[in-house]
Amino acid sequence: MKSFYLTTAIDYVNGSPHIGHAYEKVLTDVIARFRRLMGDEVFFLIGTDEHGQKVQMGARKRGIPAQQFVDNTAAEFRALYDRLGVSYDDFIRTTEERHQRVVREILQRLHDQGEIYRAEYRGFYSTRQEQFLQEKDRLPDGSWPEIFGEVTELVESNYFFKLRAYQDWLIDYLRTHEDFIFPRFRQKQVLEFLKEPLNDLCISRPRERLEWGIPLPFDQDFVTYVWFDALVNYVSAVWSEGAPRADRWPADFHVIGKDILVPPHAVYWPIMLHAAGIAPPKSLLVHGWWLLKGGQKMSKSTGAAVDPLDLVDRFGVDAFRYFLIREMNVGQDSEFSVELFLSRYNSDLANDLGNLVNRALNMAGRYSAGVVPAPEVLEEPERELQALWSRTRDEAISLCEGFQFHAALERTLTFIKAINRYVEQRAPWKLAKSSEPADQVLLRTALATMTEALRLGVTLLAPVIPGTTAKVNAALGHTPALKWSDELQWGTSLTGAKLQPGLVLFPRPETAKPPAV
Ligand code: MSP
Repeated sequence: MKSFYLTTAIDYVNGSPHIGHAYEKVLTDVIARFRRLMGDEVFFLIGTDEHGQKVQMGARKRGIPAQQFVDNTAAEFRALYDRLGVSYDDFIRTTEERHQRVVREILQRLHDQGEIYRAEYRGFYSTRQEQFLQEKDRLPDGSWPEIFGEVTELVESNYFFKLRAYQDWLIDYLRTHEDFIFPRFRQKQVLEFLKEPLNDLCISRPRERLEWGIPLPFDQDFVTYVWFDALVNYVSAVWSEGAPRADRWPADFHVIGKDILVPPHAVYWPIMLHAAGIAPPKSLLVHGWWLLKGGQKMSKSTGAAVDPLDLVDRFGVDAFRYFLIREMNVGQDSEFSVELFLSRYNSDLANDLGNLVNRALNMAGRYSAGVVPAPEVLEEPERELQALWSRTRDEAISLCEGFQFHAALERTLTFIKAINRYVEQRAPWKLAKSSEPADQVLLRTALATMTEALRLGVTLLAPVIPGTTAKVNAALGHTPALKWSDELQWGTSLTGAKLQPGLVLFPRPETAKPPAV
């Protein structure tokens, strides 16, 4: 059976991770968890991109061997993703032998097929960007833009991959596969880019200039260009006997940021695969960027960035995950600010969700001796809440299928607020004071209804805040099923469950220690 195969970009390990790297992994984790709950067998890959000029320079600056430098930083990235609860199945590092072997195999294959040739190259080279520049990259006054750093003229003999020969194939492929790139407008940008003739891709770097890379199998004086090396991770992690495993490949989604769509993922990668006789991935999911206030870019090198661990230490993993997913419309950009974080934390998590959990558990504990009663009647308030549940569930699932997670969360929180209103309306504390048998029936029904609604609401939040869902289920005395098809029906599975009181979720940051979610 073919797995649902999901990947993220592999991060450069030339600095510490920031909120942008964390976002991509959490977003992909939400997709992975959602698909698993929907019944798919998921294979989820993340990893680190460890070769190239920037890494070599980073190691030299610190006076340590490159391998030691990448071991340290890769461990830092991995520890962050473990802390964030990213449920990856494999973590690939491009310095691992299992990866290098496949890069060499693909290069050799392309070389044998005549897709790679050697030529003299003269041009202006940017060390910072690790690329040769073109005349069109110059500013109107003839100088080079800041982002390229120091630019020098080089004449070099190098190896080239015949990208141009596949330009028409790629255009045709994109035209006949309209769903290749999500969001759709990005596919148009790629076609726009392909209106200009492609240059063949320089896939080597002379070893005297760059040591830290994978030597070309057919010429040991050169190492592989870092993008050619990095892209191969998506197949090297699932390689078996000359091809990616059929139960994994083609990948269902490569999740990447908008900066690395054109040309690496939308042009080099499909062409590399096609030339090597491998099918392209099914789709690319392109997310936008987290920016600082005022639209400023974050940067590993300048340190102008938001540290994910700082927020996680103060507010807990789930609050951090919730914020990232609630505030970003996948595909667009979003600005980060602590004020916004706090306002989401207080309104959605502490007020709406945290309060409800606390009240529901306390009331059921107090008025029903800690055991969930069976519902006994179905009146207008119960009927309304159940109808709202059905709509919320169906809409949220279809929004998640279209990657509109922010909107799915918004719908779910609307349902959580409706549970709060239901509790106000039924006022169990008043019913508990009455000795009328009819009021006792209503009380038991109200307690059963609100605990069941709470179970369903937090289940829908599981892909985004899995730790919280698990805690609430434990407090409800409930062991959830692995699949949503068995879990999202309104029912009576909680009847008789023994509640664990005293769960405090999302305490006010001023007054409380950080939660351990
Ligand atoms: N190593 C390459 C990817 C190779 S994939 C075969 C790379 N690494 S990176 O560390 O610079 O970026 C990793 C991912 O993080 C990219 O998808 C990038 O778009 C994403 N982000 C980096 N900064 C970001 C934000 N500020 N916001 C959201 N995502 C951002 O590119």
